[in-house]
Amino acid sequence: MDKLVIEGGTPLRGEVRISGAKNAALPLLFATLLHEGPSHIANLPRLQDVRTTLNLLIELGVGVRRSDDGTAVLDAANLLSHEAPYDLVRRMRASVLCLGPLLARNGHARVSLPGGCAIGARPIDLHLQGLEALGATIELAGGYVEATAPRGGLVGGRVLFDQVTVGGTENLMMAAATAQGKTTLENCAREPEISDLAMALRSMGAQITGDGTSIIEIEGIPKLGPMKHTVVPDRIEAGTYMAAAAITRGDVKLVGARLEHLDSLISKMAQAGVEVRREGNGLRVRHHGELHAVDVQTRPYPGFPTDLQAQFMALMTVAQGSSTVTESVFEKRFMHVPELNRMGADIQTKDRTAFVRGVESLHGAKVMATDLRASATLVIGGLAAQGRTEVLRVYHLDRGYEAIEEKIGALGGVIRRVPQDWEDD
Ligand code: UD1
Repeated sequence: MDKLVIEGGTPLRGEVRISGAKNAALPLLFATLLHEGPSHIANLPRLQDVRTTLNLLIELGVGVRRSDDGTAVLDAANLLSHEAPYDLVRRMRASVLCLGPLLARNGHARVSLPGGCAIGARPIDLHLQGLEALGATIELAGGYVEATAPRGGLVGGRVLFDQVTVGGTENLMMAAATAQGKTTLENCAREPEISDLAMALRSMGAQITGDGTSIIEIEGIPKLGPMKHTVVPDRIEAGTYMAAAAITRGDVKLVGARLEHLDSLISKMAQAGVEVRREGNGLRVRHHGELHAVDVQTRPYPGFPTDLQAQFMALMTVAQGSSTVTESVFEKRFMHVPELNRMGADIQTKDRTAFVRGVESLHGAKVMATDLRASATLVIGGLAAQGRTEVLRVYHLDRGYEAIEEKIGALGGVIRRVPQDWEDD
């Protein structure tokens, strides 16, 4: 399995282009199932999760043509299957996002249950309850969800999410776009990726309003046309490079990053003493001097993103003073803590809170990546640490960070990938 070898201590400087957002791209790709013909998506990131999604779409019968410039044409004229098999869903939980569009398009969908995962139980009960409110019959058998629409198709209804769910909101938006009549979704997720999906669905003719607020209304129409859409820049990738620039006392321009999508992180960065400002078509992040300890608590958007919790914690490990990092979205998302401690951090956890005592500096170590964002955190730690860090199991990173070692290398970071089966010196 590939590993990344990092020699820490070099400030990151220069420009990095922020890729299209993984978490926007995946639902957009599934939404192309809703049109019986070709759709066009631009700014698709080159990521393992995107490849997994395309493989699933190909299995369902979608024709996929992908170009080197990040565009793709997806032709869902003829679907061959309505099943998302265990092997693909196991690899990528977001595969459950095919449930809503398949059900809307075919009247039937069979999707493997995702099961447990490294960051908590992550059930899909809210997706299923929502689809039931649109008239679907749901059965669970042999580890699969079997969903069937009424004979005349899904019917608009009212869905009140018990808890804010990004994927649940997306699945229901896609299912309701062609349901008969009006659907009202309440207590919706408000993430920029939800608005990106709404915009793409509108490009197909869908009648959706209220995205970006907690109430989304959808007036169903019988058929959707082709999608034409450009994926929004990845705010989580941008936040990750922001943390890397800050911890190395660097000066980095994040080309394409959007200030308005990163408000909560930027205000915490400011409290920590890191300067972030809009510059041209992106953001510039600069830091020198001391980092100050700042408490954070994750929340659904516009709160502090759970997907940046680990990276911010890396920053706090070398801040002056003590801070707390509280994870309110997922129940198990501190797997990076023991690994950061191996690098000399001083972190203790109790329930959903991590108590971080700032240390003078981190030191290089061999560490193990356990999930996507935890892996990015170890890279950030490694860039700041004294000496050499080896991050093992980087396949997690490849799921969600496009060309990470090229991007960091171009900023002056000393990082290289040692491929599988190679002996390191
Ligand atoms: C999405 C993101 C992920 C991010 C998360 C929270 C994608 C592909 N992934 O994941 O990167 O960390 O949002 O911002 O966009 N829940 C239930 N029942 C459900 C659905 C969710 O109990 O039916 C719970 C989850 O266990 C979790 C919370 O709700 O505790 C939020 O999960 P959700 O917003 O659904 O996350 P995902 O859509 O899976």
